Amino acid sequence: MRNIDKIYVASGFGWLIFSAGFGTWLGASGHFNFAESHAHIGLLGFVASLLFGLVHRCWPELRQRLLSTIQFAVYEIGTIVLLAGKIMVDATGTPNLLLMIGAPIVIVGVLLFLWLFLASPEQKRTPELVPAE
Ligand code: HEM
Repeated sequence: MRNIDKIYVASGFGWLIFSAGFGTWLGASGHFNFAESHAHIGLLGFVASLLFGLVHRCWPELRQRLLSTIQFAVYEIGTIVLLAGKIMVDATGTPNLLLMIGAPIVIVGVLLFLWLFLASPEQKRTPELVPAE
């Protein structure tokens, strides 16, 4: 997908809004048992999505591959499932199925990105010619 870089960065900012809102709520209401969930939303959602988007912007050859769209779907769906599980863990104190399903999906998403990055042939970048003044 050609604009996957922008989609990733936009998703990252979506996660930041959620993480910041969640952090504001937990701080204001004193629900500090959710602090770890809030941190995971910020790091897995905002920081990682933003980094994936920036890597796509720096290495445009990655965007031309169908795998980039599949990787995006796997990573973001895995993150949603894992975070839902993590929020439930913070609420109940016991592990749950969502966490156990989401964690391996996130790991697969990261491995797919690593594969995409390492296995995409590098594009030749011709230097831009700027006319002399
Ligand atoms: C408006 C934005 C934010 C607010 C209001 C906020 C609020 C909070 C609050 C109230 C805590 C709990 C502090 C405590 O346990 O005493 C916390 C912890 C934390 N926050 Fe945020 N936060 C914000 C944004 C972020 C973002 C964007 C990230 C990461 C990218 C982040 C990462 C963390 C981490 C790592 C912790 C420690 C979690 C732990 O102790 O288990 N926060 N934040």
